[in-house]
Amino acid sequence: MAVRNFAKEQLGEDRTGHGFDHIERVVNLTKKILKDETADRLITITAAYLHDISDDKLFADPAAQNELLNKFLADQNFSSSARTQINSIINNLSFSKTLTSNQYPLSPAGKIVQDADRLDAIGAIGITRAIYYGGSHAETIYDPQLAPRKKLTKAEYRDLTNETIINHFYEKLLNLKELLNTATAKKIAAGRQQVMLSFLAEFKAEWNAEK
Ligand code: ADP
Ligand code: NI
Repeated sequence: MAVRNFAKEQLGEDRTGHGFDHIERVVNLTKKILKDETADRLITITAAYLHDISDDKLFADPAAQNELLNKFLADQNFSSSARTQINSIINNLSFSKTLTSNQYPLSPAGKIVQDADRLDAIGAIGITRAIYYGGSHAETIYDPQLAPRKKLTKAEYRDLTNETIINHFYEKLLNLKELLNTATAKKIAAGRQQVMLSFLAEFKAEWNAEK
């Protein structure tokens, strides 16, 4: 499938936890959620494959990525309306976008892809990705003196100097459950939340030599 190959070409080399393995999991979760939701299947799955294609954390020149994406979609004969819908999903999906005041309402397709992307940030996979990301950004593992920050602004969220891997759970990952759109994703998230809570409790007990 051309869309899959294009996404693989663009993201296959990523080593910050947004690699093609993340994309494949998001696509699989998207397909699972789609079973219970009404949305355009082609647009939803295409957006899932391409949702990280112009992320400013991954690409030095997101505008160039956007151009590349639209050229690709036109070459694949996506209509102008389909291209607009896909662009609008990709550009408004991210967690950091939800921290800004002017949020753009997502389409039903966008809500599904957003849920799938968020599910891949929680549970056992989420724990692994947070540690992987933290390691690749030289983050501290844990600092009991450093209280998790409440209600982050976009600028604070990007400020890694004051972040620890454990605080990332309190500042973002444990809160994602409340932000989900679809019933299917909420159901999946409940179990994943428990996995994270057990992990954090065990981590702190071991940190304090309590067990
Ligand atoms: P989004 O694409 O929604 O903006 P991010 O790109 O910030 O999300 O996050 C991608 C992955 O990296 C997620 O699994 C997230 O939990 C993890 N991550 C992001 N920031 C940090 C951080 N400061 N410390 C640890 N993990 C992080
Ligand atoms: Ni993603």
